[in-house]
Amino acid sequence: MSDFFDKKLLGKSSEFATVIRAARIVAMTDVLILILGESGTGKELLAQAIHLHSRRKQGPFIAINCAALPETLAESELFGHRKGAFTGAIADQQGRIQAANGGTLFLDEVGDLPLSIQAKLLRFLETGECQVIGKTRADKVDTRVIAATHRDLYVQTQRSEFRLDLYYRLNIVPLELPPLRKRLDDLEMLQHTFTKQLAQQHNLPPPHYSNATLKQLRRYTWPGNIRELRNFCERLLILFSGKTIEPTNLPREIQLDKTAASHQSDGFTLPETGINLQALEIEMIRQALHKTYGNRSQAARLLGLTRDTLLYRLKK
Ligand SMILES: Nc1ncnc2c1ncn2[C@@H]1O[C@H](COP(=O)(O)OP(=O)(O)OP(=O)(O)O)[C@@H](O)[C@H]1O
Ligand SMILES: [Mg+2]
Repeated sequence: MSDFFDKKLLGKSSEFATVIRAARIVAMTDVLILILGESGTGKELLAQAIHLHSRRKQGPFIAINCAALPETLAESELFGHRKGAFTGAIADQQGRIQAANGGTLFLDEVGDLPLSIQAKLLRFLETGECQVIGKTRADKVDTRVIAATHRDLYVQTQRSEFRLDLYYRLNIVPLELPPLRKRLDDLEMLQHTFTKQLAQQHNLPPPHYSNATLKQLRRYTWPGNIRELRNFCERLLILFSGKTIEPTNLPREIQLDKTAASHQSDGFTLPETGINLQALEIEMIRQALHKTYGNRSQAARLLGLTRDTLLYRLKK
């Protein structure tokens, strides 16, 4: 029997399957989860899948986008307030943490949570108690938190934009969704499935992608990931319904991007002011070791080096 994971989270590549396997395991528990990944890689979809596979599936799934919260409203949105707690608090307001009681709270873009609120969130995560503004006693709530971010939280802690204690608390079970360009084995299946679904939805015959076109799609870097691919399929369905799509029919950015993927540039651009390459190397090695909890073989892989080369550079 196929479930939400199988039906909605498409993909069989090993990079993706590894994450889904871990997600299935942690879904059964109440452990705090941090979902990492670039924009459009499916972070929210994964959070929903985890909720629907947990003992909380009958409970609410409440999503809140921390990046869209002005600092003055963030605390009240999350924790709620009592009437008269501050000027403008004309009635009691329930916060999202309490609204998700018995279910799951999805804290999207947690890296953008204002610093002043981060300490309060940490207190809630550690005690399970929600401090409503204007109320003397904190309330016990049964809310599971799944957080997500497209940022590198560790780098943010280094810049004093994110609390280190909250980072450690959130980073217990990180699930990192790979970008589309790192799961190319899924690209053709996704393109095919989206095209088929959208063709049905629009009631149009699907277009056919020539082999040369498919090859070109694999070279593109897909900065907007699955969301971009889905929108791309819709656009080409509308424009080329029932026809064959050749490389010259592709949008300019996809035709022009040939070199990006083959050079593995991954979006690094030399700034006009130049850089200090040696300092950058040291910093990248440090971050790789941090990300892999000091595992040198894994760190080397992240850096595209062999283990020996990494050891040599470390010695240097
Ligand atoms: N594995 C997948 N299979 C099918 N559809 C997917 C998959 N992953 C993502 N999508 C679709 O891609 C779109 C983007 O997914 P989602 O909103 O979950 O990404 P996100 O990581 O939260 O992005 P952002 O950081 O921009 O908020 C959605 O329409 C979602 O349904
Ligand atoms: Mg999202």
